[in-house]
Parts: sequence; structure tokens; C-alpha cells
Amino acid sequence: MKVVIGCDHGGLLLKNGIVALLQGLGHQIEDVGTFTNDSVDYPEFAKTVCAKVQDGTCERGILICGTGIGMSMVANRFEGIRAALCHELFTARMSREHNDANVLCLGARVIGPGLADEIVRVWMTTEFAGGRHLKRIEMF
Ligand code: RB5
Repeated sequence: MKVVIGCDHGGLLLKNGIVALLQGLGHQIEDVGTFTNDSVDYPEFAKTVCAKVQDGTCERGILICGTGIGMSMVANRFEGIRAALCHELFTARMSREHNDANVLCLGARVIGPGLADEIVRVWMTTEFAGGRHLKRIEMF
């Protein structure tokens, strides 16, 4: 799958680990940065990632900041973007099954790399259930 990933300075380390994980799983990754520890503004990266999901360049997006909150707030302002902030496995799975989330947000200061990797694995492999859930996501 083609996945675009972005982060701010708070999410840099976690992003690098997730890029390696996804590449190892055979996904095609577009990494839009940031690439250094210099302080940057998370909305810029959220906008870039969401634009690539919106226009179909990438099927899914992943956004990482310190808490994941800022990224999810920005991402959900974009039409067609269903961003889910997930810090455990249940909501990661349900965000795909019930909400067809196309952007995953993570907080690098909230969870460690082991749990983040598991969340990404679950999120990447869970299918949307459709049915009554399709009608609901079409309502917003
Ligand atoms: C940056 O210090 C921090 O505010 C950002 O990474 C994020 O947590 C915002 O929601």
C-alpha cells in the first residue's frame, strides 16, 4: 500500500521507526518529514499528508507529534479525511473497522515504539466493515 507519513520534531524518532517497519512489510512510503530535531509547526506536515490522501496519491496517511492531538485536530478539518488518534490496539482496530480511518495519528510522548509498531500493524491490516458503518461515515 502507498502510505504518506509526516511528523513534527516531537515525533521524529517514532516516525523513523514506523517508516522502517512499513518498508519491511513491503509498503511504499512517502516520508514528507520533518527530518531533523529542529522545532517545526505540526500543521504544515498534517496539511501535506492530508493533501496526498485527499488527491489519491496515497491510500493512507500517518501523522506523529508529541501527543498526536494537534495532528488529529488539523487532519480532521480536511474533507474526506477521517483521522483517528489511537494509543492502544482496540481503537486502532475499530477506527478501521467502523470508521474507515484513512489517517492514523500517534503521540510519540504518549506511547513507546513497541506499542506504536503494534498499533500501526493492526491499523494497516484491519479492513473497513462497511454495511451500516458506510452510511454513517457518509453522513459527515
Ligand atoms: C510540540 O512541542 C507539541 O506541541 C506537538 O508535538 C504536539 O504535541 C501538538 O499537539
